[in-house]
Amino acid sequence: MFAKLIATGSYLPEKILTNKDLESMVDTTDEWIRTRSGIEQRHIAAEHEPTSDLAVAAARNALHNAGLQPDDIDLIVVATTTPDVVFPSTACIVQDKLNIKNAAAFDIQAVCSGFVYALSIVDKMISSGAHQRALVIGAETYSRILNWNDRGTCVLFGDGAGAVIVARGETPGILATRIKSDGSKRGILNVPGQVRNGAIYGDPTVHMDGQAVFKFAVGAMADVCNETQAAAGVSSADIDWLVPHQANVRIIDATAKRLGIPNERSIVTVNKHGNTSAASIPLALDVAFRDGRLQPGNLLQLVGVGGGFTWGSVLTRWG
Ligand code: UT7
Repeated sequence: MFAKLIATGSYLPEKILTNKDLESMVDTTDEWIRTRSGIEQRHIAAEHEPTSDLAVAAARNALHNAGLQPDDIDLIVVATTTPDVVFPSTACIVQDKLNIKNAAAFDIQAVCSGFVYALSIVDKMISSGAHQRALVIGAETYSRILNWNDRGTCVLFGDGAGAVIVARGETPGILATRIKSDGSKRGILNVPGQVRNGAIYGDPTVHMDGQAVFKFAVGAMADVCNETQAAAGVSSADIDWLVPHQANVRIIDATAKRLGIPNERSIVTVNKHGNTSAASIPLALDVAFRDGRLQPGNLLQLVGVGGGFTWGSVLTRWG
């Protein structure tokens, strides 16, 4: 038995924050943000929109694209670093809002690698025969954990959600997965605050050493892509689309270069979405599906890296 990605869906909040808008908020310029990161704009969730609402909208879109009803789903996994509340999991809130009756539901917290981690776990749960059809969602409201006075971070992130449906199949879909971690690097990207004794201790906003993250990200993404290709017995020449985490177009280009994959075969959405953490890969998949780039049988290499540090890759055939 195999696990296959059969549909995508996505949701972006209505409000768009442009680089020009940011010029009046912090000491930055449109030119700096574009040249250093490739970002032009990002979406920002409305005050009344929790992460679960973004996740539900993306999930409904994926269900519609798959021609499925909510009750066809028996597993819900939400990758998020910005859950609605400490608990219950955002996945349980999504389960209730979609009125899905017989599904397991849990969250994955692996920051920007969350979607790759989730897909890797769901692959095992579906191909073992334990579950039939899963909703795998990456959903984030990073705008709520940013320090809007820190120009080094607030210009980089955005809100959004992407979803895929993974179903049991008789021919190979997901070919190989690899997920990794190195907690010793937790100091270069984190939100150090915590909720304790009824109060917040420490800073509850994103802290980042951008250059250290940049250097680590490129090497880690290229290495794990190579390892996953070796596990599946394929090479970069076989990859139709590289679908990387969308943090910085320079990181995406450098990773593709190390892998020997031409830039035209990378899916890039960071210009329009900013860094949406766990949502960035499924959002990119949905963009590529909607504009016709994803064709049945295409070989996709998904790769993520993020706080923890965590990183990983999934090699899968589309459709
Ligand atoms: O999902 C994973 C999480 N994050 C990432 O993957 C991000 C990884 N890192 C990056 O994408 C890049 O390192 C950044 C885009 C964050 C920064 O680009 P950089 O080329 O590494 O710039 P830098 O940090 O070396 O900063 C260069 C200059 C500094 O000024 P000085 O010291 O040279 O005078 C910064 O203070 O740019 C300054 N700077 C800014 N200037 C205008 C930093 N942020 C801004 C800003 N606007 N928003």
